[in-house]
Amino acid sequence: MSEAVRQTDVEQAEVQLARVVERATGIAREAGARLREFFAAGVETEYKGDVDLVTVADRTVEKLIRTRLAEAFPEHGVYGEEGTRDRLEGEYRWYVDPLDGTTNFAHGFPQFCVSMGLEHRPVGTNADDDGALAAAVIYDPMRDELFTAERGSGAWLNGRRIRVSRAAVLAESLIATGFPSRKRHTNPNVHFYHEFTLRTHGVRRAGSAALDLAYVASGRMEAFWEFNLNPWDTAAGILLVTEAGGKVTSFTGEPYKLDSREILASNGLVHDELLGLFEAMFAGRDLEPIPTPREYAEQRAARERGSADAGARI
Ligand code: IPD
Ligand code: CA
Ligand code: CA
Repeated sequence: MSEAVRQTDVEQAEVQLARVVERATGIAREAGARLREFFAAGVETEYKGDVDLVTVADRTVEKLIRTRLAEAFPEHGVYGEEGTRDRLEGEYRWYVDPLDGTTNFAHGFPQFCVSMGLEHRPVGTNADDDGALAAAVIYDPMRDELFTAERGSGAWLNGRRIRVSRAAVLAESLIATGFPSRKRHTNPNVHFYHEFTLRTHGVRRAGSAALDLAYVASGRMEAFWEFNLNPWDTAAGILLVTEAGGKVTSFTGEPYKLDSREILASNGLVHDELLGLFEAMFAGRDLEPIPTPREYAEQRAARERGSADAGARI
């Protein structure tokens, strides 16, 4: 095949992906508008598990997205949090969280979103293997913020290109995590929360993993980790982070898989520092003592002197 023909194939694939994102964006906006209406009206909350909440909004909006995806992409599969399992043998599969942040939503706390991530699983992909994430749409209806990404082309917030932040040390990072509702009593995350809070500018626990990932992608935060997520929480956010120049792995630095329960996403620059802390904590080793505010200021001054010296040498 000639170079020119191959180039045309790549361009055509990009155009197709751009169209897919455009249509998915329309669906996410419609879904977000429904969430806004439910939020304004107030909804009854039910218990899905012992502590896990669900509302009529989760179910209605998943149904809406399922219908719209089937109209727009009749061959694409859909795997949704509220039970949708359509056409999963197909080459493309959407992971859908119709309402990421249900607990916030149920309490009237305006931090939640619609999350839709598209996986491409070429014919012959093993059932246990991941395909490649191809497109992502995360929509925050309360702020009217639309995060999108296309494989190989980049990531955007309301049409403007986004990049991960350039902070290079954890001590100058704002990071995020979340806690599961199910089996929360056996979740060790509070220990990590404690350590990381005192070694960074802070840890946010805002209640929507998809938005946390979108915020890493857009440079609002340097990193995000969580122990017990599902592909509908992460698929779109992972592509956003990687297309914005960041990194996503397990807590041991292994490549992230959609069925990995644990996720560490970052701007790439603070990734190794976080992996080192995870390793030491899992091994039960003592960590470097948490710096006092005075030591913190001295370390910062030393870093600033270091970068001024490096600047002077250029
Ligand atoms: C939850 C949110 C939350 C995370 C939980 C998720 P849901 O999703 O993403 O931030 O900490 O682990 O289950 O239930 O609101 O869709
Ligand atoms: Ca979720
Ligand atoms: Ca959900």
